[in-house]
Amino acid sequence: MRKLIKHILAATEPQEALTVKGWVRTRRDSKGLSFLELNDGSCLASLQVVVDAGTPGSEQLAQLTTGASALVEGSLVPSPAAGQKWELRAARVELIGLADQGYPLQKKGHTPEFLRTIAHLRPRSNLFGAVFRLRSRLAFAVHQFFQERDFVYAHTPIITASDCEGAGEMFRVTSLKGNIDEKPEADFFGRRTYLTVSGQLEGEALACALSRIYTFGPTFRAENSNTARHAAEFWMIEPEMAFCDLQGDMDLAEEFIKALARYTLEQCGEDLALFARFVDKTVRERLHFVLERPFVRVPYGEAVEILKQSGKTFEFPVQYGLNLQSEHERFLTEEHFKSPVTVFNYPREIKPFYMRLNDDGKTVTAMDVLVPGIGEVIGGAQREERLEQLLENMKFHKLRPEDYWWYVDLRRYGTVPHAGFGLGFERLLMFLTGVSNIRDVIPFARTPGNAEF
Ligand code: 4AD
Ligand code: MG
Repeated sequence: MRKLIKHILAATEPQEALTVKGWVRTRRDSKGLSFLELNDGSCLASLQVVVDAGTPGSEQLAQLTTGASALVEGSLVPSPAAGQKWELRAARVELIGLADQGYPLQKKGHTPEFLRTIAHLRPRSNLFGAVFRLRSRLAFAVHQFFQERDFVYAHTPIITASDCEGAGEMFRVTSLKGNIDEKPEADFFGRRTYLTVSGQLEGEALACALSRIYTFGPTFRAENSNTARHAAEFWMIEPEMAFCDLQGDMDLAEEFIKALARYTLEQCGEDLALFARFVDKTVRERLHFVLERPFVRVPYGEAVEILKQSGKTFEFPVQYGLNLQSEHERFLTEEHFKSPVTVFNYPREIKPFYMRLNDDGKTVTAMDVLVPGIGEVIGGAQREERLEQLLENMKFHKLRPEDYWWYVDLRRYGTVPHAGFGLGFERLLMFLTGVSNIRDVIPFARTPGNAEF
């Protein structure tokens, strides 16, 4: 029976008759001995395999080059080499699959740009192995966080007819040929449909029945922004709570980010050490920093004043009524407050129709959480639960209530104050690892012009 290297390396005493399978990272030959570094992706570390000349299968050693796959049987013994506790003394080796000299991961130290061109092989590098293991662990931690707090995991549709964010950045889904706008009623679903930009609207329907729900699924945006923080396909986590206001929403967002930072520090130590060494020396400090202090909460209006009085020259203008740009967000969290910041109460003009209008008649109960290194990682709001006001909001944003009739119905039948937010999973991973480009925290990135793999 094959054993994973992570379990083998965790051994507390020598072991006999082990079987390991993996890929050769390097091979080194010296007189009568060969050393193989075998990695199976179960952990960062490779297993050192020592093969004596004459070991069954050792005639294949010359073909066990970097990238080849192999099976080794042997016994685990204390290693005399520095920096490793165990090594495997081979009793038999077997080549499973050759890798010829064209194998692109021969040497270490490739640039992230180059590795993106070999997205099918980069998971075999140390860095990407660590990123994708962490991604898996964090997905589990997300579910654990919500399940422990009685949230129901809800699957909202990927194909949708409604534009939740109202930004018109949707991918069309159609089975029509030719002019797809000529007769949308003849389309597969009898109407125009798109890939979802958010599961929130359906999430609200579920929360207004099950009290607390969360979604965690693929999300699509056709915004043509070629930045290090935007992907056309990303994963979003969207909790929604009935009987909850903006305060409760901000509290949950803060608790959530802290819980994930704590999980990473406590459960992902080996991979985190790699990020600290090769990606971002300050990554651990940053996570502790987030854990140990309350997030600053500041109204949008005040944030704009701070930016205006900062004396900094920004590329984009700072003015009440304009969206905060990434450079503004980063100034607030990295330089001014030196802390994660929750900005709330934005002008209604720049936020979607579903946000609750404040008593001032000008701002809505929006909130964005900004973190160092990234800027916005969470966007959320208390929702407009008053029927008349929701209809007025729709008019204000030039939307037709009949297109959202079922959403409006939620205000007609047993309406309740409710709130929620969306967290971009990739942005969170960037924050937790220090990896600075979103293309490098998702296995096969979808960005403008890129859908090869
Ligand atoms: O702020 P956004 O647009 O909010 C919503 O979609 C709400 N409906 C969420 C809710 O209240 N249920 O997006 C939420 C988060 C952003 O803060 C960001 O982290 C991430 O989703 N995000 C993206 N991540 C990667 N690439 C993109 N193109 C993203 N657009 C948004
Ligand atoms: Mg947003």
